[in-house]
Amino acid sequence: MPDEALKLTQKLPTEFDRRAFFTKIGTIVFSYEYLSPNVLYEPSAIVNAGKPENFALNSVTMDVNSGIYLVRADEGYFALNAVCTHLGCLTAWNQDLGIIACPCHGSKFTRTGEKIEGPAPKPLPWLKTWVSDEGDLMVDRSSDIPPLQYLRI
Ligand code: FES
Repeated sequence: MPDEALKLTQKLPTEFDRRAFFTKIGTIVFSYEYLSPNVLYEPSAIVNAGKPENFALNSVTMDVNSGIYLVRADEGYFALNAVCTHLGCLTAWNQDLGIIACPCHGSKFTRTGEKIEGPAPKPLPWLKTWVSDEGDLMVDRSSDIPPLQYLRI
């Protein structure tokens, strides 16, 4: 057998082994991706805001992680959804002006969530609040309540 042909026959099994190896690896990776659950884990709708006494009287506190405002007013405590009712931007409390403002298209709200101006079609929703057995202020982000239902502690 000529040297060139001998080299070619010695090379073939190596090429085949490499191809088979990568085929098996590809099959394993594909199988793992296909069989592993495709689940989106969302944070709980229930927020523990901590002790009520941590909130100063007439304060508006934003919890950026949960997208809510905790307000302590003379009438009691309440929580607002901080997501703008226009297109879903996160609003911000402006302490100097005493309003909640949306940075996206200029909607403005009072601290009780009523719309002052801008394209937002609805006020900011009030959220269900209560005090846990441990004395913590709790908020359910998934439960809207009618406005002006203050939590009195
Ligand atoms: S998203 Fe807030 S005004 Fe448009």
